Amino acid sequence: MATLRLGDIAPDFTAETSQGTLNFYEYLGDGWGILFSHPADFTPVCTTELGTAAKFKDEFEKRNVKMMALSVDGAASHAEWIKDINETQNTVVNFPIIADEDRKVSDLYDMIHPNADDTLTVRSVFIVGPDKKVKLILTYPASTGRNFYELLRVVDSLQLTAYHKVATPANWESGEKVVVSPAIPTAEAKELFSKGVEEVKPYLRLTPDPTV
Ligand code: BEZ
Repeated sequence: MATLRLGDIAPDFTAETSQGTLNFYEYLGDGWGILFSHPADFTPVCTTELGTAAKFKDEFEKRNVKMMALSVDGAASHAEWIKDINETQNTVVNFPIIADEDRKVSDLYDMIHPNADDTLTVRSVFIVGPDKKVKLILTYPASTGRNFYELLRVVDSLQLTAYHKVATPANWESGEKVVVSPAIPTAEAKELFSKGVEEVKPYLRLTPDPTV
């Protein structure tokens, strides 16, 4: 299939996971989702990533986001590896890991990049909205573990900008000033944002985070 792009519908699938057979859309319900791949079980960076993801689960749940991980290892391998993750990362892996031995989901989401590695998935991240559209795509190499604070930050931005006519500037963190969407004239912005609008340039208008 063609490469997935932002705004595309995230393909649905049914897959074997460490928590049994699951359907992606049913698992997500009407909430948000993070589907992320790692290269292989029993590898060091992946062990730290999956442990970190487990520790972040409560924060994602607060934001109505469910996680689903994936590698091309089988369910028995996942089950054994989860014991190691729990032991070494001092956590409990509490979200499903897809056992994508036949690469069905990896191929659907283009998670194997042959010029990086012929057989293993790269570190892909897809954030899916309640409308099942792809909101964010990240691709990291095997050698670099991902930053889960950044995933939380981008979820905060996606959820804020989905409901308010704003965008979030560089290095923004929840609660900080946001920028007014370029499509809104300043006069209209001043009516829309009761906390005030600071016009730095006609195209750069700041306003306090409307949710704080
Ligand atoms: C790791 O998770 O440490 C890893 C996996 C595959 C290749 C390189 C590193």
